[in-house]
Amino acid sequence: MSEPIAVAVTTSSRDYEVVVGKDLLGSLGERVKRAVHADTAFVVTDSNVGPLYLDRALASLDTAGLATASITLPAGEQHKTLTSYGAILDAMAHAGLTRDDVVVALGGGVVGDMAGFAAATYMRGIEVVQVPTTLLSMVDSSVGGKTAIDVAAGKNLVGAFLQPSLVVADIACLSTLTPYVFADGMGEVVKHAVLADSQLFGTLSERPLTQDTDSSYLVEVVAANVRIKRDVVATDERERGLRQTLNLGHTIGHAIEAASGYTQGHGHCVAAGLCCVTRATEQLGWSEAGLATRIERCCLAQGLPIDSNIPHEDILHQATFDKKRHGDSVNLVVPTRVGKSEVRRTSLGELSRIVELGCGTGMQESLS
Ligand code: GLY
Repeated sequence: MSEPIAVAVTTSSRDYEVVVGKDLLGSLGERVKRAVHADTAFVVTDSNVGPLYLDRALASLDTAGLATASITLPAGEQHKTLTSYGAILDAMAHAGLTRDDVVVALGGGVVGDMAGFAAATYMRGIEVVQVPTTLLSMVDSSVGGKTAIDVAAGKNLVGAFLQPSLVVADIACLSTLTPYVFADGMGEVVKHAVLADSQLFGTLSERPLTQDTDSSYLVEVVAANVRIKRDVVATDERERGLRQTLNLGHTIGHAIEAASGYTQGHGHCVAAGLCCVTRATEQLGWSEAGLATRIERCCLAQGLPIDSNIPHEDILHQATFDKKRHGDSVNLVVPTRVGKSEVRRTSLGELSRIVELGCGTGMQESLS
């Protein structure tokens, strides 16, 4: 097996490494010890991931000389709540955690978001190490410092920016995902390829990436995605400009996800949203001719949906309640060609036209 790849991330608030490789959990403790000056590592995990990987993570942290404590939360987005957040804070206090200690988020995006938010707020902020175990969290949510919980009024409405001190992405963890959860991460991988990597886009259009793909290649693809996100976050940590492009496919994708009652995976909804927006913007002359078909082909090659059967009024209703709305407009990310996109301030009237042109007009593979 080849050496892990370390991607250096530089932001205005913190510099850190994202280490991508296979079978890294055994060296987690040493890596944490090198990255942070902590006495105790407090591991946050969930009921899916804990039984698989918690013991190995704790043993490695212990061997490296760190005291350990942990909490295992019920798995699922429906548990990304104030209640779970409160439970994490109580357990951290109960373990006697201080500002000299570190939180370790072991799990997918939900665990990463909640553990990160707890770390951002406990004693006004302590360090966090992200150990993503899903493809989606490896290529997207563990990098860049967004942390959040959901409240009744909306998903991710309460949060903070806290860059991790280290990210350890062990692709061996991908082997225990269901094919659906693996493919969910591919939605974000295709998005990154459309934004910034025409070569990866070409390869993904030819053949699917799966858990059975050669592990060296998987490591390279995850690292390539981390570099794409790194380059954006290094320029715009707080999403005032360039980082908004990472929302490609998300205006309609989030709306589909919310309208489905969060029964559809985030990455599947992003893929459908990406295809919907591109079908519309191509017809409006904002994207190059043929782009929608190329993106549809790439999504289909990865087993991702290219459309949604959700009624237009439901999509519009959800899209206009998005937290990223600005008054009577939204910042829509338009892919102009593979490797180039732009953020367009779009009125709600134009958005309605975009939904009309792009949603429910693909040929097949719709989310309902
Ligand atoms: N997931 C998009 C971002 O981190 O900005």
